[in-house]
Amino acid sequence: MSLPLGRAGATEDGASPSRTDGVRLGPSASSACSLAAPPSLRIGPVELSAVAVQAALSGYSDWPMRVMARRYGAAYSLAEVMIDRFVLDQRRGRSRTQHHLRVTDEEHPVGGQLIGADPLQFGPAAVRLVDAGFDVIDINFGCPVKKVLGRCRGGYHLSQPSVAVEIVERVRAAVPGNVPVTVKLRCGIDDTAQSRARFFEIVDGAFRIGAAAITVHGRTVEQRYVGPSDWRFLRDVKAHVGAQTVIGSGDLFSAQACVRMLQETGVDGVSIARGAIGNPWIFAQVRALLAGAPLPPPPTVHEQRDALREHYQLAEQTYGPDRCGSSMKKFGIKYARLHPEPATVRDAFVATKTPDDWQAILGRWYADDGPGRYPVVDETQANDHTPPV
Ligand SMILES: Cc1cc2nc3c(=O)[nH]c(=O)nc-3n(C[C@H](O)[C@H](O)[C@H](O)COP(=O)(O)O)c2cc1C
Repeated sequence: MSLPLGRAGATEDGASPSRTDGVRLGPSASSACSLAAPPSLRIGPVELSAVAVQAALSGYSDWPMRVMARRYGAAYSLAEVMIDRFVLDQRRGRSRTQHHLRVTDEEHPVGGQLIGADPLQFGPAAVRLVDAGFDVIDINFGCPVKKVLGRCRGGYHLSQPSVAVEIVERVRAAVPGNVPVTVKLRCGIDDTAQSRARFFEIVDGAFRIGAAAITVHGRTVEQRYVGPSDWRFLRDVKAHVGAQTVIGSGDLFSAQACVRMLQETGVDGVSIARGAIGNPWIFAQVRALLAGAPLPPPPTVHEQRDALREHYQLAEQTYGPDRCGSSMKKFGIKYARLHPEPATVRDAFVATKTPDDWQAILGRWYADDGPGRYPVVDETQANDHTPPV
């Protein structure tokens, strides 16, 4: 794939973001859209307007985060992984966990992700997700959490290709033909040749059955988050599957890294995970670079404040005024990375106990405008959350 590359380095004009096509783009990004037709991404019948998508992130990619990602430029987003049995046990309107099945008009297309052990449970759970409004069903063969592996879920399936392929087959057979089924995988249980062979057996089987795309995280299950994501493996996967859609994952902490992954590996799309938590602007930044424009400046302090308010309102709608605080504390900590005084603002979010404490931070630390900064990511803080049970 030949991709236009924007000039690295931002302008510092600090103007408010404009909206194009329902997407909030920074000033440089919006003018950039006329420079070149940005590449698009296909997931079966679903055509996406951009190649950067919001990854599934347990503990984070709830409805508010997904809506923020879409409003700020993500082409598509995925909900937090859900256990098949948990989905089947949900009773409409009853449970405090009902928000996991919340899908609204503005976020289409949106993917729902399933994890489980028993192939027989996957089909009915997938139908439930389609009924809830999810447009794509993604199957998790990647989660490396010990408890999850111990229950023969997630990454465990990379050790048993025939079961993994059966799961894809059952989901494909259960949901309507126009609903794409996709698979998320790590690149194996470990880095042995046997593990690699099993990975390709699953991938070949999944595409043979009719999977519309795979997302590959270039780390093994055993590796968890230690060491870099292996982008050479992603390149090998793309070369192996040819025209089938491959979305790459791993170490996408900046727009430049996303463009580099596309160029170095040939994958069709990029799945931004930790790099998008508290940084929805990354999606517009990728769009800008791929359109041949300069990297937009990081959001100003006031732009950050506005996004924090917007995110808080979405969380309030989802969890109610009393319960949205803990979620927004977690997100505030991540947004703080973009503030000119990241450590101080982070500590302020960490110390919040009430919604009033949280709002007071906006008054104190986000009142004066000024340039923001690109986030510096602490990769040691990564760990997959356990899916809801
Ligand atoms: C907190 C956290 C939660 C995650 N939850 C999920 C999940 O629910 N489903 C999934 O497929 N991957 C999940 N992942 C993996 C990410 O989607 C992604 O593949 C991985 O973080 C590598 O990308 P990165 O290095 O750019 O963060 C999670 C990762 C983290 C850090």
